[in-house]
Amino acid sequence: MKTPAGLQALIDDGVIDAVLRPLKSGKEASVYVVRAGDEIRCAKVYKDMAQRSFQQRVQYQEGRKVRGSREARAIGKATKYGRKQQETAWKNTEVDALYQLRDAGVRVPEPHGYVHGVLVMELVADAEGSSAPRLGEVALSPAQARDYHRFLVRQIVKMLCTGLVHGDLSPYNVLVGADGPVVIDFPQVVSAAGNNAARTMLLRDVNNITAYLGTSAPELLDTWYGEEMWALFEAGDLHPDTELTGHFEHDESIPDIDGVRHAINDAREEALIRQQGRDAAAEAD
Ligand SMILES: Nc1ncnc2c1ncn2[C@@H]1O[C@H](COP(=O)(O)OP(=O)(O)O)[C@@H](O)[C@H]1O
Ligand SMILES: [Mg+2]
Repeated sequence: MKTPAGLQALIDDGVIDAVLRPLKSGKEASVYVVRAGDEIRCAKVYKDMAQRSFQQRVQYQEGRKVRGSREARAIGKATKYGRKQQETAWKNTEVDALYQLRDAGVRVPEPHGYVHGVLVMELVADAEGSSAPRLGEVALSPAQARDYHRFLVRQIVKMLCTGLVHGDLSPYNVLVGADGPVVIDFPQVVSAAGNNAARTMLLRDVNNITAYLGTSAPELLDTWYGEEMWALFEAGDLHPDTELTGHFEHDESIPDIDGVRHAINDAREEALIRQQGRDAAAEAD
């Protein structure tokens, strides 16, 4: 194929040898299958600032470390320099998170460098060597759903223990590789301790995974792993191998100011109704 503009510099520098095919082009990035020596990898090319809506990301920027006060001021301002720095900070967030999470033993694609604004990483593949499907695209038995849920809750705990919340976790940002689920897509990762919205985002992340896997294993819809891990995290009692129960005593005396409970219950109810619809349809067959 014709080499995309964003990847030519990597070929010129010998970082990769060839671009084999486009994998997926989304809102914020295009992902390509590339060859580096004997290795098949993938390359994530970020779209230009102008093509992305940054205003809605402001929430994510809160609590993120930026080196140097000039940089911090520039990011705060909508100057050309500020936009440039903000874009760099945005891209680096995903790369930094990937290395940090890999080091913490979270199952993410193995990073192979960040060159000319392109992230080169392991191509997550299925048993046949083809690029892996997303979790939201695979049919699961109840046992598999429970197994994946246990594994993914553990990955979220490990992330939280390194101080990070994914922030956009869904069945579309989990790939099902030959060795099981792999978490991807980290540009919006937030600092668990430094961002006021971190708890809300963590609960949403856990709920997205639970609501989806709960359609295959409905008993998962009765679990409260997000609330449980956040309470332990806040108390300084969460460790990468902390055993969780999925139970959580809700303190009714604290008013639900952020409405998270509502959103979560709505999502769970919806998932249950869908499941009941499917059960009814299956019975009618
Ligand atoms: N390391 C990877 N291995 C295999 N496929 C990948 C990998 N990274 C991304 N993809 C594919 O590219 C798609 C888009 O990548 P993602 O990082 O989620 O970016 P975005 O959703 O912002 O466009 C994913 O849904 C997945 O299908
Ligand atoms: Mg994605």
